[in-house]
Amino acid sequence: MRVFSGIQPTGAKHIGNYIGAMRQYVATQDANEGGAYFCIVDLHSITVEYDPRDLHDRSLDLAALLFAVGLDADRCVLFCQSHVAAHSEAAWLLSAVTGFGQLGRMTQFKEKGEGKEFVSAGLFTYPVLMAGDILLYQTDIVPIGDDQRQHLELARDVAERFNSRYGETFKVPRAVYPEVGARIMDLQEPTKKMSTTNGTPQGTVLVLDDPDTIRKKFKTAVTDSGREIRFVPEEKPGVSNLIEILSVASGRPIAEVEEDYDGRGYGDLKTDVGEAVVELFRPVRERYAELRSDEDELRRLLRIGAEKAQTTSAPTLHHMYERMGFVAR
Ligand code: AMP
Ligand code: TRP
Repeated sequence: MRVFSGIQPTGAKHIGNYIGAMRQYVATQDANEGGAYFCIVDLHSITVEYDPRDLHDRSLDLAALLFAVGLDADRCVLFCQSHVAAHSEAAWLLSAVTGFGQLGRMTQFKEKGEGKEFVSAGLFTYPVLMAGDILLYQTDIVPIGDDQRQHLELARDVAERFNSRYGETFKVPRAVYPEVGARIMDLQEPTKKMSTTNGTPQGTVLVLDDPDTIRKKFKTAVTDSGREIRFVPEEKPGVSNLIEILSVASGRPIAEVEEDYDGRGYGDLKTDVGEAVVELFRPVRERYAELRSDEDELRRLLRIGAEKAQTTSAPTLHHMYERMGFVAR
């Protein structure tokens, strides 16, 4: 099985990104003989307003963070999207088989564009670039969080349309969502997904937050009316979110966590989740500090990743041009 996933170098990464995505990346790097490819999708990050200096630093931050959570340059391929030109090229070619109407129905496009004075064309075509990312690698599985469901469906449609129009070229990828934690909610507004761009700062727990900040954010988490600690997301979104996070951070099934807190109060739960998350991220913070201080080494590792990614994606890009009828050079 070939694994591929992408993650944007914007905003500081939060516990939703960790639980919904990064944790899966680490788990798949060994389990899959076809190789695991993880892409820092810097080209996607220019579709909303951003500061160029920020993009540069955030990309290196994210590389260090991904290595710190457990990706290993010898066991997977980690690279920057902009280092492999095939991604931009594939996006243009695939735009020929992507429906304008389908792009317009994307929830992320509507949400991110709403109320903005300027909405870039890139924000609209974003899912085409994403489809290219995945399809270039003949990907079998894509570990992602729940918010990417619609984009993944689009990538599958694009693959099928290309295959039927130009001949069998792409594997049709399948998304894999974590069983627990595919959608971590904002601690202050538990009916909204946790997000650095659209969430509340106090309700967003960053992987690199210091221990006291993490404890405080959990202590002030919004819970629900009633007293019972039970996992029922529709009825008790706040408490259920905390149970889910504790389940992942402590490695215990949800039912066991529920049982442990039977008859206990919300205060205990909040304190314990806070501590469990502090411990979960402690080693990550330490490794991150070390890795981030050596930019030359990070760049070297990303260069190696880009070379491998380039080699793997080249044949598919070549087939795309050929089947679409372009004259060979
Ligand atoms: P992004 O930072 O938007 O590039 O997202 C990186 C990965 O994190 C994607 O696979 C998302 O689906 C996942 N993700 C983002 N927010 C959440 C969340 N609140 N809960 C679970 N997964 C998330
Ligand atoms: N759109 C994804 C997100 O915001 C990031 C992404 C870009 C991606 N290309 C990808 C995810 C390819 C999986 C596969 O989270």
